[in-house]
Amino acid sequence: MKKLLASLLVAVMTMSMLTACGSSDVAETTETTEATEVEATETETTEAEVAETEDAEATEAETTETEAAVSEALADGVLTVGTNAEFPPFEYVNDNGEPDGFDIALIKAIGEKLGVEVEVENMEFASLISSIGSKIDVAIAGMTVTDERKESVDFSDSYYDAVQYVVLPADSEIATAADLENKAIGVQLGTTGDFIASDIAGATVSQYNKAVDAVNDLINGRVECVIIDKNPALVFEGKFEGQVVAVDGAQFGFEPEQYAIAMPKGDAALVEQVNAALAEIKADGTFDELVKTYIEAE
Ligand code: ARG
Repeated sequence: MKKLLASLLVAVMTMSMLTACGSSDVAETTETTEATEVEATETETTEAEVAETEDAEATEAETTETEAAVSEALADGVLTVGTNAEFPPFEYVNDNGEPDGFDIALIKAIGEKLGVEVEVENMEFASLISSIGSKIDVAIAGMTVTDERKESVDFSDSYYDAVQYVVLPADSEIATAADLENKAIGVQLGTTGDFIASDIAGATVSQYNKAVDAVNDLINGRVECVIIDKNPALVFEGKFEGQVVAVDGAQFGFEPEQYAIAMPKGDAALVEQVNAALAEIKADGTFDELVKTYIEAE
């Protein structure tokens, strides 16, 4: 826990702007001196001098130094992250028995930016949301932002666009939304694929804890299709080449989805800091590197 964080900032900024615009020339000079003191979770800003403007029409020029309040989840220096490592390429268990994948690399990069250690807990997907704030601080699991989930958790800015795909036996004739009616459909429990399948007329939905078990049952003929996110569907198509095919859910009318990191409700400081770290990771090229390493390499 950061006990006391005191910083004194004196910023003197003089900005001269010469704008030549059409018929009018405007010269602006703004001088701002700010003293900012940050103590524990409180931020106190003293403006030693109010901006002086030489030109009545001058706009404000400001230096902004933001010290966010301390997040409860980050206070102990460890960010405990829940995932469900059954969802390649976003998360899977690697050859060393460790959770790995795009999401794991992303949250570790975020942890680095925030100066906290990241510990990953592998658990059932369906338990993630209810574990946030108790067993885990946050969850990263290719988790789609939904209104229903937003009632229990806060989400970061989204970091990846997704859509559900339909995985079919290579010789299947299923091709339209109507073809999915009255079918035996495999899904991963508690996922958006599960929610979509459950709304299909006459469908018999088999819910699996592990997506790969659903695909195995597809190959065994126990289910007739599997509804799962695009990238895992493509991974399974590659893994079971010749046996299954992955078809874009847009063909079945499925809506686009976005992945985000789920966080405890009401920890505004955490959301702010995670979003800031995410933005930096996107701006400095780290994000694109991770996409290349984990997603495009598949
Ligand atoms: N995007 C889907 C959802 O949010 C599936 C996510 C499954 N993720 C996982 N790690 N098993 O429901």
